Amino acid sequence: MRKLARAVRLSAIGQGTPAHRHNVPGRSALRTAVALAAIGAFVASAAARNQTEKTKSQPMHQAPPYWAFVEDPPVHKSAAPSKPADQDVLQHVPGSQGAFTLRQINDGFTPPDWHPDGHPPMPEIVAHGRRPDVWACGYCHLPNGQGRPENASLAGLPAAYIVQQVADFKNGLRKSSKTTAPFSAMITEATKATPEEVKTAARYFSQLKPKPWIRVVETKTVVKTQAKDWMLLPVAGAGTEPIGQRIIETPENVERTELRDDASGFIAYVPVGSVEKGKALVTTGDAGKTLPCAMCHGPDLRGQANVPTIAGRSPSFIVRELYDFRSGARAGPDAQLMKPVTAKLTVEDMIWIAAYLATLHP
Ligand code: HEC
Ligand code: HEC
Repeated sequence: MRKLARAVRLSAIGQGTPAHRHNVPGRSALRTAVALAAIGAFVASAAARNQTEKTKSQPMHQAPPYWAFVEDPPVHKSAAPSKPADQDVLQHVPGSQGAFTLRQINDGFTPPDWHPDGHPPMPEIVAHGRRPDVWACGYCHLPNGQGRPENASLAGLPAAYIVQQVADFKNGLRKSSKTTAPFSAMITEATKATPEEVKTAARYFSQLKPKPWIRVVETKTVVKTQAKDWMLLPVAGAGTEPIGQRIIETPENVERTELRDDASGFIAYVPVGSVEKGKALVTTGDAGKTLPCAMCHGPDLRGQANVPTIAGRSPSFIVRELYDFRSGARAGPDAQLMKPVTAKLTVEDMIWIAAYLATLHP
């Protein structure tokens, strides 16, 4: 394993600039791709040689965990409509001079920008999208790119990586092991946005500096939650239940999250002991179960060259992606490198890894 790590360090990948400063797709991205392909072949052969009974790849028998692939329950026609909130009353959030109505906030073409000083000016595609087909990227990913558990943080990702992923969504190379409504919406975005719009959005999000967004809490019990707006929200008065083998990621403040306040983050409840077990998997690979993530994601796991950051990101997102690499739903050109990493991981391992990664500074 030490030899493997050294080989990777010596390759071109170590010479890339950090992700958030690496904004221009081009020759260096291509060089990275070539270097990654070489590492991939090396990793695959080393992984094959290393296989013992204990660490041999097992078929994935576990279903996609509902708490990582959150889907709203179907709406029954017979259900009594909940009291309609007044759509045209101005809403406010702490620390903002802004005022927006629910009608604006919940419209994919007019999402609120509560903290305009918190990010550079947004290009039109991020702020408003383009009628009738392309919602504002900032509607789901938020103006400062911090994202929500059901989508992804984009702040500080390399521009070339963003462009590549959107192409993968469009070309059917990046699917989901369980297609939720938000995922389908992202496919529509990728299909309908023009290459120029994608490039403009990619440049914008790559310039942003990701902020701490997740507070990890190890616990035996959690508040009971239900799927609503493709997130897990506490059920008022329903009490608590054992956490079991789950990550329950829920807003710090439900009201602010529902108003799309990009200054209000999330709490991730994780099983007791997850962070330490995750640290072992992430840093050492745990005797061949996986590979040390820093080999490709950089010494601080904040990405390097065209490999994305995995530090301080939503743990529901991380589990979803690990599951999708393992199941083969993510099959873009560079996704092959994540195959040997995920081949032997159980959902429980993924929980531990995601819990640890969420404790890191983004
Ligand atoms: C309706 C909500 C929605 C909108 C609007 C939206 N996205 Fe997404 N996006 C998603 C979801 C959901 C995912 C997560 C997919 C997954 O789970 O793998 C995603 C993921 C991504 C990713 C992958 C990030 C990563 O780290 O893997 C990129 C890149 C991306 N979106 C770019 C964009 C761009 C650019 C726009 C605007 C043109 C946009 N998105 C608009 C919902 C949205
Ligand atoms: C051999 C190189 C390599 C190693 C080792 C590696 N990764 Fe990756 N990882 C990649 C590449 C390349 C991508 C981008 C894949 C793509 O383009 O779809 C990636 C993507 C990811 C993503 C998706 C992020 C996003 O923004 O969509 C996650 C999550 C991830 N890796 C987690 C891990 C974890 C956890 C480990 C360690 C246990 C690890 N990786 C080890 C190369 C690697």
